Amino acid sequence: MIIFKDILLQALKEHWATGHFNFSELDQARAIVEACAELRSPAILGTSEGERNHVGLTEAVAIRDAFRKDFNIPIFLNADHTKSVEAAKAAIDAGYDSIHIDLSALSFEENVAGTKEIAAYAHGKNSEISVEGELGYLRGESKIQKEKIEVRSEDYTHPDQAKIFVERTGVDRLAIVVGNIHGISLDEPNLDIERIRAIRGCIPEEVALVLHAGSGIPDAQIKAAIEAGIANIHINTDIRVAYMSGLRRSLEEHADEVVIYKLDTGAIESLKAVLKEKLLLFNSVNRI
Ligand code: G3H
Ligand code: ZN
Repeated sequence: MIIFKDILLQALKEHWATGHFNFSELDQARAIVEACAELRSPAILGTSEGERNHVGLTEAVAIRDAFRKDFNIPIFLNADHTKSVEAAKAAIDAGYDSIHIDLSALSFEENVAGTKEIAAYAHGKNSEISVEGELGYLRGESKIQKEKIEVRSEDYTHPDQAKIFVERTGVDRLAIVVGNIHGISLDEPNLDIERIRAIRGCIPEEVALVLHAGSGIPDAQIKAAIEAGIANIHINTDIRVAYMSGLRRSLEEHADEVVIYKLDTGAIESLKAVLKEKLLLFNSVNRI
């Protein structure tokens, strides 16, 4: 079976990016896998700590395994934005393929120590588990922001520090801060493409660069970020909005309906349409 690391290297070399999409309900996970299967793209399913508390760690792994049986595409499950070493170990032990250990709110030394511990723990269990660290300070949350969020110069990832971080931790992927903000922000984000290129030039080719907070970023900037070396892009708010607006529409149109799976249909259709737009934008169609 092809592993996540190999797909990311293929993406870098061929100038496209894998889409990472979050879910908290079975029907959302199915929509992600179906959209990816229909467009022959790898599927990266993500659960934040909140999302996986809702789904359950064991259940999230079982959902991935069931979809692997039903769909003939690579499917990987990532523990997104894991804020502690203990929570990361729990996801690894449960059978996740990939861990995003996000200790970016701590000091550089604390971030290095915890991330290194998780990389060693994951790779000691199974060398195919992909570990992502995060450097820089990524603001916002996956929602429609009501207030203006300012990205400060000290939030950005520095290329020299990224090189040291990757060397010292042994991560397979690095999430960077280059003007991106979680959620749909009031002001249009302005990605520092030259900084992405500089970071890419400082770290080994087999370590993938990850762009979080992909919602609300203009298409031209996404394409430029991929050209500069981003191989994985996280999207959550855009798909949350699509799912909920589809569901709200169904509820209004069928006010007397009491069968949730019938109301779900509209939500899934609108979710899949946005997912497919993203896969096309990331140029990840027909890659498997
Ligand atoms: O890890 C999740 C993503 O970074 C989602 O960000 O909600 O801005 O798309 P987003
Ligand atoms: Zn993120």
